[in-house]
Amino acid sequence: MKKKVTINYDEELNPSIKEARMRRNKDVNFTSFILEPQYLNIGLNKKYLLKTYGCQGNLADSENIAGILELMGFSPCNEEIDADLIIFNTCAIRENAEERVFGEIGRIEKFRKQNPNLLIGLCGCMAQEEHTIEKIKKTYPYINIVFGTHNIYSLPELVYSSLIEQKNKIDVLSIEGDIYENMPVKRESKYKAWVNIMYGCDEFCTYCIVPYTRGKERSRRPEAIIEEVKELAKAGYKEVTLLGQNVNAYGKDFKDLNYTFGNLLMDLSKIDIPRIRYTTSHPRDLDDLTIDAMALGKNIMPHLHLPVQSGSNEILKKMNRKYTREEYLDKIKKLKEKIPGISITTDIIVAFPTETEEDFNETLSLVKEVEFEGAYTFIYSPRIGTPAATYPNPLTEDEKKERLLKLNDLINSYFLKGRKRFEGKIVEVLVDGESKNNKDMLTGYTEHNMLVNFASNKVKEGDIIKCKITKAYSWHMLGEVVE
Ligand code: 5AD
Ligand code: SF4
Repeated sequence: MKKKVTINYDEELNPSIKEARMRRNKDVNFTSFILEPQYLNIGLNKKYLLKTYGCQGNLADSENIAGILELMGFSPCNEEIDADLIIFNTCAIRENAEERVFGEIGRIEKFRKQNPNLLIGLCGCMAQEEHTIEKIKKTYPYINIVFGTHNIYSLPELVYSSLIEQKNKIDVLSIEGDIYENMPVKRESKYKAWVNIMYGCDEFCTYCIVPYTRGKERSRRPEAIIEEVKELAKAGYKEVTLLGQNVNAYGKDFKDLNYTFGNLLMDLSKIDIPRIRYTTSHPRDLDDLTIDAMALGKNIMPHLHLPVQSGSNEILKKMNRKYTREEYLDKIKKLKEKIPGISITTDIIVAFPTETEEDFNETLSLVKEVEFEGAYTFIYSPRIGTPAATYPNPLTEDEKKERLLKLNDLINSYFLKGRKRFEGKIVEVLVDGESKNNKDMLTGYTEHNMLVNFASNKVKEGDIIKCKITKAYSWHMLGEVVE
């Protein structure tokens, strides 16, 4: 019989969905991260492996986690077999994202046999869910440390407890959330950087778990963001992506300052950095000043990811999206007028509870109207603790899949159309490096955020080059370097 390694937690601070729902309008604390001296060097001669799932917010958090671990003396590795510490930074947005993580955690148990001292950690949005913690205790009782989205700063203490004192802990806070500045960061790229401008979400779309896992909307101070982007420009970065669950709500929480996302974009556009992007936007909060800043700022890229979720007013209302189909289309019209050639991408959920054939057809007709050039499309996935999880949903799995396929068929045709418009044209490409599928090709993204593959032995990663597009496909384009 296989013997399972079971861990008893020495201390437990478990999440509470009820607490996580609260918005008490408490002031945000701004704290500066410092590493206590006793945690320095405890990772010397030890290797860590970080497995990141989900959105850009998690990618950015993982860069902070890596920064903290390296400050503690750990060095990175790529293979599980070499690792002394494996951390799963998880995503809770849909059930299949969670199942993938649990599958991986199950697989990792075997490495304990080869390395009994292996530490396993879990953090991110799944850690913030009550049912995940229950499942860990019941089914995966060999995870040493669990921490949440609100206390990445606790990592040194948790690793110390587990590694040195052999005490394992669950440490998850269900609070509205504060802001930590000066977190150590180990950026993946030397040319492209994530810059968090705000945290949390107060929208409470009825399907979404994020407002519960990431806390209330809270904005970093503009000076801190401007300073960070200036530093990145000085260090040779070519592109920054401003991050937030709903960047268009930036600044709404300032009590002493009348300063919004549009103001921030205007200020950042004056910095000498070639490319500024941002994600994700909420259609209700996208305002004229933001559109003007995109139109005026030469370094604000002509691409906008504007999740619509559904084309039916009935469903939008049930989703608590707080805009109508008509209002969404008006904003798209304005964007296309003010920023000629702008590329619009989106997120769409099909088979939301009570979605009828007519509702679904409204989504298809909106897709035809907007001609999205990229999209993430999903079947609705009930999330425990959210209102929509209690709504009736009579559709069968086959019916749900059929809707997704039908939507994808239609929407993909516009991806091709969106790329065809560049055939024969010269575009600027920020070089990312070798193409994943073909070692003889290089790859990079255009200003409109479209992938281009091209051959060249003269350019290198981080260069911004001119390419003539020779052929467009639905998901990428082929180009030739000019000049
Ligand atoms: N089911 C399916 N898709 C979801 N999303 C968020 N929550 C759910 C859910 N419960 C999608 C939305 C969002 C994107 C990040 O994930 O489209 O914009
Ligand atoms: Fe979720 Fe809606 Fe907030 Fe986006 S805006 S994170 S979909 S609640």
